[in-house]
Amino acid sequence: MSFKAIEWMGDKLRLVDQRLIPAEEVYLELKNHHQVAEAISNMTVRGAPAIGVAAAYGIALGSIEIKTSDNKSFLKELNDIIDLMAATRPTAVNLFSTTERMKRIAASGKDAAIVRQDIIDEAISIHNEEEASSEAISRFGAELVEDNSGVLTHCNTGPLATAGYGTALGVIIRAYRQGKHLHVFATETRPRCQGARLTAWELKQANVPFTLITDSMAGYVLHRGEIGCVIVGADRIAANGDTANKIGTYTLAVLAKESGVPFYVAAPTSTIDASIKSGEEIIIEQRSPEEVTHINGVRITPEGVKVINPAFDVTPNQYITAIITEKGIIRQPFEEGIKSIP
Ligand code: MRU
Repeated sequence: MSFKAIEWMGDKLRLVDQRLIPAEEVYLELKNHHQVAEAISNMTVRGAPAIGVAAAYGIALGSIEIKTSDNKSFLKELNDIIDLMAATRPTAVNLFSTTERMKRIAASGKDAAIVRQDIIDEAISIHNEEEASSEAISRFGAELVEDNSGVLTHCNTGPLATAGYGTALGVIIRAYRQGKHLHVFATETRPRCQGARLTAWELKQANVPFTLITDSMAGYVLHRGEIGCVIVGADRIAANGDTANKIGTYTLAVLAKESGVPFYVAAPTSTIDASIKSGEEIIIEQRSPEEVTHINGVRITPEGVKVINPAFDVTPNQYITAIITEKGIIRQPFEEGIKSIP
């Protein structure tokens, strides 16, 4: 894969600005951890695995920035940097798997110089693992996609979102490259339009035939019987398989069930949070009302309207046909399948 959404340059992090695609393909070079934290919060970089990878490199940059040679002060500053990174977005668990891994290194009791090198090595490992995972997910998932079928997907789950091959979109692209005749339906994904901007951009680059629909057209498309399966990504999967993903995913899952269409979640095991029993415990990020009231900075609503803007929803596990991970496909009962992941 030649395109690199996230690239570690040794002393800086190169990121494509996902807020500008497809109008512009701008690469930013972030030189300190504050810039990386800001890039995660403002969604310059987004998508659960990509957030985890960017945070890892942000912490690596932070460890390079620390000037003190005193071990205790070094570890204090490092832990503060890790905490700052953990506060950037609340839902995607990949961020917290990264920060927990980094905390464990900080607590290793080793010398500051060794900890710094271990942090940098860990960030590179996290990136390599996400790349390998999404590649494996695409291979497992492609088996589930039927030839001559329509595939509905939501949000953006390709190389931009994963710093690798892609999860749900990786499955679709792999199935297409295997020679399956597919037609993808990509939802616009309001309010940030990750589907209209990013998935459409990635599908075009991959030459996969697709049709863009607004979110409210999903029922229409599913009812027509042209969809063989729905595949989405995930931001956090609880121990019972309940899955938080981009707002609108739950609606699609219910529609898929009503239409007799399998609903697949494609996600690396780094997105599974076995510490929580169910989706009830997942914190849903609430974003700014302007994302709903404005499009490209232009107000589309009357002044002062009441708005909610939950960035994610939780799909209860009973709507999910299977979870495609890099270690294989998990089916109901998910609790057992998730527990037995090696
Ligand atoms: O708010 P975003 O754009 O970070 O949300 C992204 C999603 O919900 C994706 O579907 C999810 O992270 C899976 S990415 C492989």
